[in-house]
Amino acid sequence: MVGMTVIQTPADWRTDQDPGGLVQRYDDVRGHTERLAAPLSPEDQTVQSMADVSPTKWHRAHVTWFFETFLLAEHESGFAPFQDQYWFLFNSYYETLGPRYSRPDRGLITRPGVHEVGDYRANVDDRVRDLIARLDDGTLAALAPTIELGFHHEQQHQELLLMDIKHVLSRNPLQPVYAGAPPPRSEPDALGWVDVEGGLVEIGHDPTTQGFCFDNELPRHRQWLEPYRLADRLVTNGEWLAFVADGGYRRHELWLSDGWSRVNAEGWTAPLYWSEVDGVWFEHTLHGTWPVDPGAPVCHVSFYEAEAFATWAGKRLPSEGEWEHAVVSTGLSSTGAPAGGAYHPRAAGPATGGLRQVHGECWEWTSSAYHPYPGFHPPPGAIGEYNGKFMSNQMVLRGGCALTSPGHARTTYRNFFPHAARWALSGVRLADGGAPR
Ligand SMILES: [Fe+2]
Repeated sequence: MVGMTVIQTPADWRTDQDPGGLVQRYDDVRGHTERLAAPLSPEDQTVQSMADVSPTKWHRAHVTWFFETFLLAEHESGFAPFQDQYWFLFNSYYETLGPRYSRPDRGLITRPGVHEVGDYRANVDDRVRDLIARLDDGTLAALAPTIELGFHHEQQHQELLLMDIKHVLSRNPLQPVYAGAPPPRSEPDALGWVDVEGGLVEIGHDPTTQGFCFDNELPRHRQWLEPYRLADRLVTNGEWLAFVADGGYRRHELWLSDGWSRVNAEGWTAPLYWSEVDGVWFEHTLHGTWPVDPGAPVCHVSFYEAEAFATWAGKRLPSEGEWEHAVVSTGLSSTGAPAGGAYHPRAAGPATGGLRQVHGECWEWTSSAYHPYPGFHPPPGAIGEYNGKFMSNQMVLRGGCALTSPGHARTTYRNFFPHAARWALSGVRLADGGAPR
């Protein structure tokens, strides 16, 4: 049995679920993946533009493999795989489940094609619906956490699909547009600061009062925070342009040693998707390529760049505990509303007296290494590989972004990427006061 302990649900969650409701949620999540892939041609869906990127087609198949492996293979009577080799092609990183196809070579999987992947999805969808309909109440309650995990896993891949196709399209000199028109140009809103008292605070998910969470958000525990302040909005492109103009990418004294090595090795002069043409900076987005909007948040910067910018600004990055406590204590603890229909972060808008742009614009780099919370234990079995084994050499990001699926992120959510990663929709919120951690 797998997947029974990786997630936490509120005490009354199971009684709220009936087979029809569960199937409806299943169809909603699965349908959203297909809607995101719909604007993309078979060629778009097959390309892998760098090792970190997976083809759209692979994402669509892998999330299907997840339901087939963790739900159907365990619980469907007379189970037989849809195709004998898909377990090898579409296993991502689960060592417990055996060998798998090389990640950097996923773009070489020209077959199955997108239509065969669609057939795979439809087959598994029919079988999952059928399984749910046949389960007695007790078995359904026991399997509900695994099904729930499948929903949240697929939502994670929906964001990855968008991150990845953004990179794929960025490599095409025809500057393809994924969707819609860019938002209107904006100017930076005034920066304010929110003071937070700190003290002995509680961090992490509370399974007695809150809904789903991943295992890495547990256990809830105490932290001591010195008094501190957070910027009330994200760093803007306009501010980043000033950093660039002031030699930000040429001044070694602003950078951590590892970051400075990356600047030189990879020739960084600006965020990932910026390019300079005749003295004007342009930005590639999913809505096309347009002049850098000074009022919009800077995005697609690495931890190293975020850290160097904070040093240049005479500030620092917040710890993840500071970020979470500030959001909770200022009353912004609800799940964020993503930018509906927009796949790019928007300007902050007028000051509110509290924190702006907390959810739904850019993931925010923190100064916290991605480590287990005190008392964390990954669950046994393959599903224990979901989060725990990645707790090394990565930094935590908080919040959510314009590519995050509706209802997915939450205040205790811990995203994580390596220090040099830039293809996530990652931005910067400055902190001041307190003590570095
Ligand atoms: Fe996955």
